[in-house]
Amino acid sequence: MAEITHIVDVQLTEEDLSDALRADVLRGLTGPRKWLPSKWFYDARGSKLFEAITELPEYYPTRTERTLLRHCADAIAAAAAEAGELIELGSGSSEKTRLLLTALSTHGSLKSYLPQDVSESALRAAAEWINAEFPALAVHGVVSDFTSMLPGLPRGGRRIIVLLGGTIGNLTPAERSEFFRCVHDGLEPGEQLLLGVGLVTDPAVMVPAYDDAAGVTAEFNRNILRVLNNRLGADFEPDRFAHIAVWDAEHEWIEMRLEATADMSVTIADLDLVVDFTAGEQLRTEISAKFRLAGLHAELDAARLGVQHSWTDPDDRFALVLAARR
Ligand code: SAH
Ligand code: AVI
Repeated sequence: MAEITHIVDVQLTEEDLSDALRADVLRGLTGPRKWLPSKWFYDARGSKLFEAITELPEYYPTRTERTLLRHCADAIAAAAAEAGELIELGSGSSEKTRLLLTALSTHGSLKSYLPQDVSESALRAAAEWINAEFPALAVHGVVSDFTSMLPGLPRGGRRIIVLLGGTIGNLTPAERSEFFRCVHDGLEPGEQLLLGVGLVTDPAVMVPAYDDAAGVTAEFNRNILRVLNNRLGADFEPDRFAHIAVWDAEHEWIEMRLEATADMSVTIADLDLVVDFTAGEQLRTEISAKFRLAGLHAELDAARLGVQHSWTDPDDRFALVLAARR
């Protein structure tokens, strides 16, 4: 029997993360319109808060995608029957991926699973249970930033890259087209990309998903300030920032922001930096773009990723899109 691997390769050390965060803070908090990249939500606490969000009654994306996956996992496995290696970017808990791993290893030729995430704690926990549940699968976790790992993708069997949960929507349009270009360049002709994306739907459905009654998303949003406190010795008082979620109809994305409830001066010790906030000033922490299938297909096509199949739920709130590199 082949040797079974179960390893986590840390390509982003704590020091690398702090260096990257310092650069993002300098860029994002010293200009006229303050912003931070959303990947900084996900320390161990942030990953747990995200998992709690996925169980909220208002947060429809996860359960919609799970149900969709349940319905079409076999069809995906048929369309990706030759895939030997599944590379999942931003894999988090990998919980929904179980459906794909089962289908692809039962009906296809899947041999290995490479979960990848910036959150080491989430990745280790996932690698642990997947290894126990799928003993015949080689599991090799990678802690890295998916926006920079694509040029160095491992080569083994025929690959399928998977990005679930609507995470592609957390990239700006420019980052997204760069991402698709890198996916194209990282794959061989015929290798595939499976994307889970939120679709444009009623704002009365979308906005509460990002502003739940229990306040879990508000806590997730404020966690980004705790990450700055813990990593860079900042002295944010998270509870003095209000959680805001709005639908931006022009860009077709949900925007999450933190609004200063009073004038404040925050010191970021590691950067020797003082950041002033005026009462009412907002800091953008996330965009979560929602898509129209025709537009997304055109973007993929422009990156020479040819769409093979799209599946949507009955309410057209979420889609799974399978494309192959031309
Ligand atoms: N795929 C899972 C998790 C989605 S949450 C699901 O569908 O439920 C988004 C995940 O992407 C988190 O686990 C977060 O840590 C990870 N992530 C966000 N930005 C990232 C980046 N730039 N590089 C790697 N992982 C990232
Ligand atoms: C991970 N990502 C797709 C989530 C989203 O819906 O944009 C993150 C999230 N933000 C607030 N709630 C959940």
